[in-house]
Order: sequence, then C-alpha cells, then structure tokens
Amino acid sequence: MFEEQAVELLGKVGIKTSAEKLERPPQDEFGDLSFPCFELAKEQRRNPMEIANEIALKLQNQIGPVIDKVEYKGAYVNFFFNYTKLSSKILKGIMTMKKLNFGENKKIVIEYSSPNPIHPIHVGTARNTFVGEPLSRVFEFAGYKVKRICYINDLGKQVAILAYHFIKNKIKIKPDKKSDHWLLDFYIKSNDELKKTPELEKDTEKILYEYENGNKKIASLVKKLVEICIDGFEGTYRLTGTKFDEYLWESKFVNESRKYVKELIKNKNAFVTSEGATIINLEPYGLPNTVILRSDNTGLYITRDIASNIYKVKKNKPLRNIVVTGEDQKLHFKQAFKTIELLGFKDISEKCRHVSYAYVTLPEGKLSSRLGRVVLIDDVFEKAKEEVKKRFKVKDEKLAEKIGISSVVYAIMKIDVDKQVVFTWDDVLSLQGNSGPYLQYAYTRCSSILEKVKKWKYTTSMDFMNDDEKKLIKQLSNFTNVIKQVTRDLNPAYICNYAYDLATTFNNFYEKHRVVNAETVKLREFRLTLVKSTQIILGKCLELMGMHIVEKM
Ligand code: ARG
Repeated sequence: MFEEQAVELLGKVGIKTSAEKLERPPQDEFGDLSFPCFELAKEQRRNPMEIANEIALKLQNQIGPVIDKVEYKGAYVNFFFNYTKLSSKILKGIMTMKKLNFGENKKIVIEYSSPNPIHPIHVGTARNTFVGEPLSRVFEFAGYKVKRICYINDLGKQVAILAYHFIKNKIKIKPDKKSDHWLLDFYIKSNDELKKTPELEKDTEKILYEYENGNKKIASLVKKLVEICIDGFEGTYRLTGTKFDEYLWESKFVNESRKYVKELIKNKNAFVTSEGATIINLEPYGLPNTVILRSDNTGLYITRDIASNIYKVKKNKPLRNIVVTGEDQKLHFKQAFKTIELLGFKDISEKCRHVSYAYVTLPEGKLSSRLGRVVLIDDVFEKAKEEVKKRFKVKDEKLAEKIGISSVVYAIMKIDVDKQVVFTWDDVLSLQGNSGPYLQYAYTRCSSILEKVKKWKYTTSMDFMNDDEKKLIKQLSNFTNVIKQVTRDLNPAYICNYAYDLATTFNNFYEKHRVVNAETVKLREFRLTLVKSTQIILGKCLELMGMHIVEKM
C-alpha cells in the first residue's frame, strides 16, 4: 500500500514503474522503500547513480500521505516514511482488518497433499500438505475463492500389488485400528512377498491390466481399499485443520484421457509411434518425448494428468490451476502442461502452475515411502507431543499436541520449497530459534500482557517514537506485502520468515521498553495498541500457516 504511494510519486516525475520493482531496504539509513535505478540505466545507457540523484532531486519537495522524505544513495532512490502518519494508518487498519481483497473473488484451484492411497502419509509427502494448505489459506485471505482438491492415485502398480494381496489371501476389509495404518501392514507384506517370489510379478501385472481395462470386481475392491485409506488420511488432516472440497480419483480419467490422445493423433506433427505406442513429440520444445499410450492401448500416469488438468480448468474456470507435488515430478508436469497446449488448449495450459518441493530427511538419511523404513507423519506428530511434554513440562495433553503438531508443520514449512528439510528435535522445538514454539510463545506473551490490563483506549500514533517502536510498526506494515508475494511466488516460507521477524522485533521491543507501566498514560495506551496489533498479525500468520494458536504455554 505504501509502495503505491512511491510509485505515484515516481510517476509525477515521469518514471513509470510498479510496486513489485520497489525494495524494502535492509538498513534503516536507506529509508523504508527503495527504487533501484539499474533497469533505467540500462535503457537510457546512463550511469544509475546519476539517474537516482536526478530523481531524488526532483522529488525533494514532493511528499505523499505517508512518505515525507526522498534521498538517493548509490543507484537507489530511498523513500522515508513519516512514522506518526504511518503508525496511525497501519494500526487502525489492523484493528479493523478482516480479509484483504486484492483477489477480487477470482477462483484458484489448488491440488495438493494427494498421498498415495495405499498406506499412511509419510513425512516426505506430508510436506505437500504443508505447502498446499498455507497457500490455500493465503489465497483465501487475500480475497480469492479457493477450491482445494486432493488427487487420488487409485491406479498403477502399487495399488495392484495391494489388491492382488487381498484377493489371493482372501482378506476381509475390517480395520481394527486407524484404517490407513491397518492397510500399511498389508502393503508391507504384499511388497515383501513380491520381492521373495518374483514369479508373482506376472499375476500382479495381470490384475493391473484387468483392473485398468474395466474389471468391475477388482475395481470395486480397489475402491473399498482406497476409501478406507482416505478415511485414515482424514484423521491426520483433522490434526492440522486440512479439509478438501473434492477428492479427484485418477481412475475417473481413464477414458477421457484416451479421447484426448486420439485427438492428438489427428495432429500428425505432434506424435510419433514406436512399436505401436503413441509418443508425444516434445523435442522441439526442449523436453524429452514421452509415451502417452502404450501399445496395448492403455494410458499412463501422464495421460491421466493431461485429462485431469483440462478437466479442472474447464469445470472451475480458475485464474490459476496449481498442482503441488514432490520435485521428482517437475519434468512430468512440464510435459503434461506442454501437451495440453499442443492439444489446442493454450488458454488452459497458461493457467497451470506446478509447485514442487524437495524432500524431507531425518538426520539418519532419506526417508523411503516404499518398503523399509517408513516414517509416518502420525508417528512424528505423536513423538512431537511426547517431546513437548518432556521438554516444556506440559501436562495438558491437548496443549502438548497443539504445540507438537505446529512445531513439525512449521519446521517443514519454514524451508523454501526447493530446499531439502533435515530436521532434528532440538531445532523443531527450540524456544530460542526459528521454531513453531518460539512463535506460539511470542503470541502468548502478547496475550498475557493484554490480560493484565482491563480497560484502555486504542492509541494508534505518537508524535515521537523510539527506534524499536518504529521497527515494529514497519514490520507490521509489511504484512500485506508478504501476502501478495506468497500469492505471486507460491512460496509459503515467506510468511514463516515474516512471522519470525515480527516475533523477534516484538520481543526486542518488549524486553527494552515498559508497556503496562509506561511513563505516561498515552504512551502506555500506544504501546498496548502495538502489542494488540502484533497479537492480531502474529495470530493471523499462525492461522495462515496452519498452526495452532495457544493462549498459554
Ligand atoms: N500421489 C502422488 C505422489 O505421492 C502425487 C500426485 C500428484 N498429482 C497429480 N495430479 N499427479 O507423489
């Protein structure tokens, strides 16, 4: 919102730019907002410092509602806020804040979590939820209409292996524990069996072929297995407040995807055939070719993803169609989206965005989703709760659960999506460092200060403010921007960084200055208003990140 004022000021002296081009300088002496002149310098073939100097000179006597000083340093034009005015605008805004509205009610479709429906969610893929959930919440808060979709891969080999195991051993579907955990035992057994007796491979393939080609009995068994698995997932989702509008089953797209492939075949340039298989020719676009129809006329994972993404966009008409998956599927989605374009749906492919995340490892090494060491997110949550009880001497089970779960969610979310997460309990539960408990604790600190005072009047500004108050106001003023950046770059780690900086700035302010016993009544009210504003914004961040708010720790 202040970026716009700087943009307007720049416009007055003939510089056309946009809010995204402005930076928030790291040091106070460089002002509150900076406009870098490198791009202009390139265009005009001039020295950037000269340009910065010229602009600053022209703007010297121009002030906006909040900006009251313009200077230049190096190649930057620096704008300085008038904190009395800024504070009153920001704090009033926070007190009355409900939702932002820059999304203009436009629709966002986001497909995330999408665990394989044959065993419980493991830590590796749980990261998917901790990317998709905060993104959904941020979009919603920004004023978009969000549709949350969970894609269910109910086709493919792993499903067939499990189904075959149930058929061969005549197992009744009667879970006696959390149903996804119940399935895990059979999942492990079935894979073990296959490893020991490779001859079974043929039978499994037969089951897979029959299933994908319309065998109703197998299809109905798989449906039951997958349904109970989803039941189990929902138990996990409840812990983090995740709720989907739709489960979209891959099998829904078997026939539809063949239709699209036939369509493609009409376009002779787009495909090649090899031994009866249909291959889409992506080399002209710098991508490897990919098979989209096998010689036996069955489709593949990518074939269905082509159809499912066309379906989602046609049905929901969103501004963006976002898919979140692990980084191993980067190429897959490049190929799928390009193929959608080649099918004549450029308008659809342009709306598609793939967000991929790197994997989560525990210090002991990579987590495996197949056999062997599977680290389940439910177990990690449970362990987190126990650690919280032990380390923080928390007796209340519910409270320990809330702190524990949030700490795991935060530890994963705070890492940029393209970087691996390696986590240790000391990190996850640190009260000093960048952790979930640290943020929750800062929030409870605000709450307990506010609890001590009964009645006070909001005071949103002072004529003079100290540096720590200014820093806090500046930090609070950046909230809306961060929300915008998350929707632009689809990186939820931004809110984590923001919340951490806010908590740290607040702690610093609170440790140095008296609030309840401030020197004057007005100062006390102003500082209480700062505390209240911090509490609101920090609480909002916790909510957007999918963490639990606790009132006491
Ligand atoms: N189930 C897949 C996995 O665990 C993710 C599904 C991604 N979505 C899709 N439309 N292919 O890796």
